Amino acid sequence: MATPEIVIFNDTHGWHSRQLCEAIEKLGAKPVLSSLENCTIDLESTSGLVIPGISVHLPAAVIVRGIAPGSFEQITLRMDVLHTLSELNIPVLNNAKAIEHTVDKARTSLKLHLAGINTPLSWVCENEIKARALVAEQLAKGYQLVIKPLFGCQGKGLEKISRIEQFDDLKPVGDTFYLQRYIKPVNPGQWQDWRLMVIKGQVCAAMSRRSNHWITNFSQGAECFASTINADMEQLAIDATRAVGADYAGVDIIRTQDNQYTVLEVNSVPAWKGLYQATGIDVATIIAATVVERVQQTNHFIDHAGH
Ligand SMILES: Nc1ncnc2c1ncn2[C@@H]1O[C@H](COP(=O)(O)OP(=O)(O)O)[C@@H](O)[C@H]1O
Ligand SMILES: [Mg+2]
Repeated sequence: MATPEIVIFNDTHGWHSRQLCEAIEKLGAKPVLSSLENCTIDLESTSGLVIPGISVHLPAAVIVRGIAPGSFEQITLRMDVLHTLSELNIPVLNNAKAIEHTVDKARTSLKLHLAGINTPLSWVCENEIKARALVAEQLAKGYQLVIKPLFGCQGKGLEKISRIEQFDDLKPVGDTFYLQRYIKPVNPGQWQDWRLMVIKGQVCAAMSRRSNHWITNFSQGAECFASTINADMEQLAIDATRAVGADYAGVDIIRTQDNQYTVLEVNSVPAWKGLYQATGIDVATIIAATVVERVQQTNHFIDHAGH
């Protein structure tokens, strides 16, 4: 059998792509760096798709490491490519559905809520008057709120609302209001949450992120430490990953003052540089091995079906 070609999609390929390439090569497959915006939908080809960089008609598998921002039409085309690859039985990690469930924080909150998974109370709406009334009501009850961009990542664009005037000064991204109850730190002035990496239904690495600021992303300068996790955290991360239908995910978990754990968000295109530095765990190899295993299972299925 020819060497399977595993496409890594991103608009710019950096450290994560390099790590994946190395891991894929070690496993005897061929990594191909490509980008979704350069793919073509072409009904002259049997699959209807042309993916640049590969020597055969279709890749053996795909790893999605990033989708460049674009117009509604551009994103629709890129998702068309991912949906079609899955429909053609090609393993796509993570597939378009999982990406859709997580790229938009409102959809993640709904998925978690409907699956009965602990997540802070959240409200999302387009109407500013409603949003303001909601904020006023929560503040009156003694809660602070966090407003997040619907497509936010890396701790960018979040604001904490402690007074109604702060809401009045906001210019929410895309005129949508994603509001979530603020979870106060267990130790005042010391903020901490956990990032758990789930692959194939198991937690493969975990770190705690600590900061003297309430936003504890690695990319916002939080300190990351390898962390033991208890069974509740582990189960929460596994359940959250399953709820969004992801093969692998980075799950952010925070502890509430009454000692419960709750899911802040699920990332279906998670970075693992901080996790790697904190724990030394070779996440790239685990992802690559999962993909190669899926390729083998798919080929076995095709061989089997063909005889
Ligand atoms: N409801 C919340 N209560 C307390 N802290 C929060 C809350 N939501 C987010 N944070 C803080 O902000 C960080 C980024 O929020 P998150 O929802 O994970 O968005 P992003 O996609 O930008 O990482 C979290 O890791 C946490 O430190
Ligand atoms: Mg996060």
